[in-house]
Formats: sequence, structure tokens, C-alpha cells
Amino acid sequence: MVVEKHNPLKKSILQSELLGEGKTQIEEISFDLVKRLALKYGLATDVLYQMSAGKEASIFLALWKEHPIILKAYRLWHSSHTLSKKKGYVPPGTSKRSHVITDMMESLAVLEYDLLSKLFKAGVHVPTPIGRIGNFVSMRFIGDGETPASQLREITLENPERVMNQIFDDYLIMYRDVHYVHGDLSQYNILYWQDRPWIIDVPQAEKVDKHCNMLKIEKMLLRDIQNVLSYFEQYDIYRDPESILEVFLNSYIPDNKRHYRELVPEGLELL
Ligand SMILES: Nc1ncnc2c1ncn2[C@@H]1O[C@H](COP(=O)(O)OP(=O)(O)OP(=O)(O)O)[C@@H](O)[C@H]1O
Ligand SMILES: [Mg+2]
Repeated sequence: MVVEKHNPLKKSILQSELLGEGKTQIEEISFDLVKRLALKYGLATDVLYQMSAGKEASIFLALWKEHPIILKAYRLWHSSHTLSKKKGYVPPGTSKRSHVITDMMESLAVLEYDLLSKLFKAGVHVPTPIGRIGNFVSMRFIGDGETPASQLREITLENPERVMNQIFDDYLIMYRDVHYVHGDLSQYNILYWQDRPWIIDVPQAEKVDKHCNMLKIEKMLLRDIQNVLSYFEQYDIYRDPESILEVFLNSYIPDNKRHYRELVPEGLELL
């Protein structure tokens, strides 16, 4: 499968397709464009239809020979909220702005592809990544035939407690061994297939390393844990989110961040 080597200093092959020479506007990411580029760069042998359009990406059901695969195309120009000054906002109408946007789309695709690879290797149940070119990521299709697996929110579980434990077991591997927080874990981003949960949609994940803001990481972790727990309340399962958070934090904190709670100066919110 094709995986483009990421070089932040170099224009990706798709960037020139999306921008064109001298163009200041990025071409709208239509079904036909996605299909043309996916076939041209060998990510798929066919693209069947668009399955969903989320905040930052569109999801397509594609084929690799006769096997269904998922093609995720990031299209940040639809989500102006991500174009904050902090992330390098450049006024509209300049080609510099288009490059900033295509760079951002590409970096989300790079993050998703790389993190899915690490998670898969660590044993977390995620769609195995297959390829990446520019802002396109292809991955394993979770589902039967061409029918995608349900999101957790759409189904009623027979053994909810087991499923909840499987979710937290996988999330603990992600945090403790791969050193990432998901940042958007919920009944929407967990699929149910082959009798177990599968975690998806990881581009907003944050790395937990010696440079991280541990207070922010802790907040993200707690929010993910609370989101999962609130889904399970319908089954009359109640757990204390703080004690699950403690299990996570006790399993891993970067060495130089061990005393992060004491080190926060009075009244100074670092977030
Ligand atoms: N590998 C996969 N196999 C089967 N279905 C998938 C797969 N990846 C995504 N989907 C389906 O597409 C939906 C959207 O995918 P995902 O959450 O990755 O995209 P998104 O656009 O970032 O989402 P959003 O902005 O809505 O959170 C999922 O909820 C799921 O139903
Ligand atoms: Mg999602």
C-alpha cells in the first residue's frame, strides 16, 4: 500500500493537485475529485459512496480490489474554527493561506495514520491503517460485506459491563503504552463489531510526553472517561470517573511531570 513519507518542508504530491500552480483557492473536495485522486495515487481501486461528513473529514466506502476499505479525506476549509490565529491563520485570498490549510489537513491525516499504526501494534482494537497520501488516509473497513459496523450509540448491548471494561482496557493501553489521550472518545467514536468495541477517529489525540501540559491531559482523559461512563448509565452501570482517572494516572506520568499538580502556581490557569 502507498504511504507518503511526511516531510513538513516539502509540498505533498496532493497539495499541488488541490491548489494547482498559482491558484489561491483550494478545489472543492467533491466525490469525483476524491475518486480521481484515490485511484490516481493507488489508495483504492474504486470509490463507491460517501458514508459520512464529519466536522473535519469526509468518509468514503472504497474498494481495494474486491475488499471494502475506508477512505478518510480531511477537508479543513469547511471548518473555519480550526483556523485560529494560534494555528497560523493567514487572511483569505492569499495562496499562503491555501498552503497553510492544506498543510493542516495533511498533518491531521499524518497524525491519524501514525497513531492508528502505533495503536494497532500495541494491540488496541482500531481500524488497521493501510495508506496515506496528502490529506487522505485509508484504513480497514470495520463491518460485514459492505455494511459498516454500528456506532455504540445505535445499539443495545447484551453484556454492557464487559464492553465497558473492554473499552477502558483498550484506552488504558493507548494511554499507558502508546502515551496518547484520545480527546474525543464517546459512543459516536466507538464502533461495535464482532462482539466487541473498536475505537476510531483519533486525529485530535494529544501526546503525553515530557513536553505536554499534564493539566490539559488530565482534563481530556477525565472528559473521555465521563463520556464513556455516561453512555453506560442507561444500563444502570455507574462508576466513579475520578477513580478510573487515578488508575490511568497511576499507570503512567512522564518522569518530569510527576509533581505537576503541586507545580501549578496559585491562581494561574495554564490551559
Ligand atoms: N474504519 C471504519 N469502518 C467502518 N466505519 C467507519 C470507519 N471509520 C469511520 N466509520 C464511520 O464513519 C463515521 C465517521 O468517522 P470518523 O468519526 O472517523 O470521522 P469524522 O468525520 O472525524 O467524525 P466526526 O467529525 O463526526 O466526529 C463513524 O462514526 C463510522 O460510522
Ligand atoms: Mg467521529
